Amino acid sequence: MGVYKSPIKYLSGKAMDIISTIDDAYLIIDDEGRVADFGPMDSAPEFPAGADVEDLSGSFVFPAFADPHTHIVYAGSREQEFVDKIHGLSYVEIAKRGGGILNSADRLHQTSEDELYETAMERLLRAVEGGTAAIEIKSGYGLSTEDELKMLRVIRRLKENAPIAVRANFLAAHAFPRNYANDHDGYVDLIVNEMLPEVAAQGLADFVDVFCDTGFFTVEQTARILEAGLKYGLKPKIHANELECSGGIQVGVEYGALSVDHLEHTGEEECEALMGSHTMPTLLPGAAFFLGMPYAPARRMIDFGLPVALASDCNPGSSPSISMKFILSLASIKMRMTPIEALNAATVNAATALGLAGEYGQICKGMKANIVITKPMPSFAYFAYSYTENLISRVIVNK
Ligand code: NIG
Ligand code: FE
Repeated sequence: MGVYKSPIKYLSGKAMDIISTIDDAYLIIDDEGRVADFGPMDSAPEFPAGADVEDLSGSFVFPAFADPHTHIVYAGSREQEFVDKIHGLSYVEIAKRGGGILNSADRLHQTSEDELYETAMERLLRAVEGGTAAIEIKSGYGLSTEDELKMLRVIRRLKENAPIAVRANFLAAHAFPRNYANDHDGYVDLIVNEMLPEVAAQGLADFVDVFCDTGFFTVEQTARILEAGLKYGLKPKIHANELECSGGIQVGVEYGALSVDHLEHTGEEECEALMGSHTMPTLLPGAAFFLGMPYAPARRMIDFGLPVALASDCNPGSSPSISMKFILSLASIKMRMTPIEALNAATVNAATALGLAGEYGQICKGMKANIVITKPMPSFAYFAYSYTENLISRVIVNK
């Protein structure tokens, strides 16, 4: 499934529910890890002697996932806040008490770069086992120049050593640190005047991000940061409309964001703004599930004609899971996306949200082979339906 004659960039609207498939197919991967050929089994060439041939009868083979929104570099876990939430506190109330992102920032400050690298690499390798072949990783638990650079250096090491493609997103604008609690614009000044020039000089980021939402960064502050980032060639990929209709979608589109992410609060006006733009709406149902908050209106967005991508949002506060398979299940169960729409959203569209359009998320001759092989299943829909079953038998990644 997901096989194409030439690379495609993304699928939107009704096309999201279509996937190019060959029943009873062969697939040849060459010594360099590229897709050499594929087609129906009855037209398969003679396999050369010594070739490693595997019979995958009953299995499904589809493109590996791209995960275009994660925060996998973090220290410690936040299950105490999870319990606080069970007792009735909201995500915003926990953040106001100094928990949340600031709690993770304190712990990150006390943790060595080596330890951050080891724990993040462990999560990344679990993502690969779960079928992910390209991943975006954000900073944003540093919140000071020193600690943001520390996080980005960890991401650079992951990029160099991981078996999959990694892209770094600079998210100092994730929360206001305590020393700027009463001087929000002062923190934006610090990001624009001190952090961004240093991040750019050291080539530590591919993208720039802002948590544009009520109680966090305003539309004006977001615009300032995006504009400054663009001067250094950093494309925006931002957090928008998670908590309220924040204007985040519009400001992202205005600055040519690669993606706007979360979008739990998206209405007609926001869909209009996205339509005709090159910005990929990226939905994170893991966060809505974990926080018990409303889901993004995926069905309405697709019916409107938009593309959507999916991501894990793996982080210790709002989505402590790296499983893209579970994200596909949530997309189908909670957002009424068909299993095929969910697969397209997590592969071809997700690669585009990651700045890897036409390079990942599809099976195409000449392209690096990044594929998931399932255990035998009765149909593809079974993959999302059987939502806790490990149905992945093997993942092949090549970067
Ligand atoms: O994508 N919404 C903002 N940021 C993260 C949560 C980070 C945290 O709570 O540590 C998110 O959900
Ligand atoms: Fe996030």
